[in-house]
Amino acid sequence: MAGRIPNEFIDDLVARTDIVELIDHFVPLKRAGREYKACCPFHSEKTPSFTVSADKQFYHCFGCGAHGTVLGFLMEYQHMEFVEAVEELAHRAGLAVPREGGGGPAPARHDDGPLFDIMEEAARYFRGQLRQAPKAIDYLKERGVNGQTAARFGVGYAPPGWDGFVGTLGGDSRRRELAVEAGLANSKDGGRAYDRFRDRVIFPIRDRRGRIVGFGGRIVGDGEPKYLNSPETPIFHKGREVYGLHEARQANRSLERLVLVEGYMDVVTLAQHGILYATANLGTAATTEQIEALFKTAPELVFCFDGDDAGRRAAWRALENALPRMQEGRQARFAFLPEGEDPDSLVRARGAAAFEALLDASSTLSGFLLDGLAAKTNLATPDGRAHLVDLARPYIAHLPRGALRRVVVDNLAERCRMAGPELERVLRDGVPGEDMRASNFRTPRHSKKTPMRNLVTLLLRHPELAVHVPERQAVRDLPVAGAAVLHAMLEFLEASPKVSMGVMMEHFRDTETGIFLDRIARAMAPEPADFDPQADFKGALARLMDEQQIQPLRQKIKAGTASEDELKQYQRALATAKGLVSEGE
Ligand code: UTP
Ligand code: MN
Repeated sequence: MAGRIPNEFIDDLVARTDIVELIDHFVPLKRAGREYKACCPFHSEKTPSFTVSADKQFYHCFGCGAHGTVLGFLMEYQHMEFVEAVEELAHRAGLAVPREGGGGPAPARHDDGPLFDIMEEAARYFRGQLRQAPKAIDYLKERGVNGQTAARFGVGYAPPGWDGFVGTLGGDSRRRELAVEAGLANSKDGGRAYDRFRDRVIFPIRDRRGRIVGFGGRIVGDGEPKYLNSPETPIFHKGREVYGLHEARQANRSLERLVLVEGYMDVVTLAQHGILYATANLGTAATTEQIEALFKTAPELVFCFDGDDAGRRAAWRALENALPRMQEGRQARFAFLPEGEDPDSLVRARGAAAFEALLDASSTLSGFLLDGLAAKTNLATPDGRAHLVDLARPYIAHLPRGALRRVVVDNLAERCRMAGPELERVLRDGVPGEDMRASNFRTPRHSKKTPMRNLVTLLLRHPELAVHVPERQAVRDLPVAGAAVLHAMLEFLEASPKVSMGVMMEHFRDTETGIFLDRIARAMAPEPADFDPQADFKGALARLMDEQQIQPLRQKIKAGTASEDELKQYQRALATAKGLVSEGE
């Protein structure tokens, strides 16, 4: 396996790529002063608020908060994985991607072709085995699945024994290794490879292009584990794939509605009953990526869950992940099954019409969201109604502007007995509630501006300001939120003083500092033309010192409890703070 890509390489790659040129290739940009603009490709809008800065090597949409570097853009816009995006940029720059530990550059691009081939070969083998396995055929028949439906999904069977599939590879060690890499076989400590799937009904999982990327295997009858899935491999990422999406697209090229259920068998049985637009996530909560893939295929998505507590929790997670994807024209609904039923049992007991009636009667996103939040408070009291606004604020902040957001706000206004414009004002100016769980969620804009937050924002946008901080060490120990972040940035900038905002964001990607910076970047507002970042930065620094150092010392001095040392410290801090403020004028 290839090693990690060194940080320095990524920093360098971001620094040398022209973000304007890269984005312009996908989204034509117009010059506007020092920056470039376009209508945002990540939400629908009529006046451009999507801004690209060459100096900062960063893009940011002041409308929806989308932001990032050249790498982030490829990941968001082209749906690339991080490593793919790095490889793509390196390829454009004519560089090979070095790997740590591996020694020397890795091959320019890993060729996944042989992995897809062996998956296809395995699927063919499993289908052939099913024809010779009356036990598995009977099991499927018992569950109401006929041959035509089995063929539609390419259902197969893996025989018992350790080298059914692996045995077909003969002594070819390269192909056995490939089988292991594809997750079809295991090998203990590099020993002989043996089949992963044994005595199971096999469901091939296809990506959107129809290529087989993984398998799910169900035990025939009872036993544990009930399902065994392919492991994560270079071509299989559970959080990205949606079971049945390819088959649904094959059945109908212009789908109006997709339903997302929980199990393989639910998808298969629904198809057996003529519902050809069902898909399933693979035993995980619906991810943002899966939701995006579904919306790219159809404008309406119905999430379908068990009626129990676990189902309600899963629905709420799906709701949270769906919010940022609710662009104009998209609709999400939430359906709950009667206790003890799943779509498979329901459609078999009561037929397709009953299942579709359940979908038609499902909750809208705004209803489900606000009912869920309203249940946590008492709307009969003014306090309870104000609390509902606080609860709803972070969710609304994640909705792209558009019709759905308006529906939610109107619905909320009604429940809180407020006028729409008044509610909009409260939503905009209020202090954000802290009720949202997921940390990757956008913080509402206009979050509270502390001097520390201001410093971090300014330093992120203008890394050259780092030189104005008199003492990096002193910053780290300040007892305020963000001190560790500011310190980490200063430390990085001391080592690499000339970096841009984009390089800094990439440097901290996936670290705690990076998550904090990401939130800051999301909430950024445009800087006015006459804005003086240096004066503002020094002012904020002086304010911070005053708050954290000078004032506490002054109190001690007044109370007569200051030591000799503290007196000196006080003088020094005062002088530094004064210097900061006057120096800039
Ligand atoms: P369920 O337990 O609801 O299974 O798990 P099901 O689809 O109703 O299965 P049948 O009807 O008993 O055959 C839902 C989904 O969770 C994943 C699978 O994707 C399954 O379809 N799962 C479940 C696993 O990955 N492993 C398991 O052991 C169980
Ligand atoms: Mn089931």
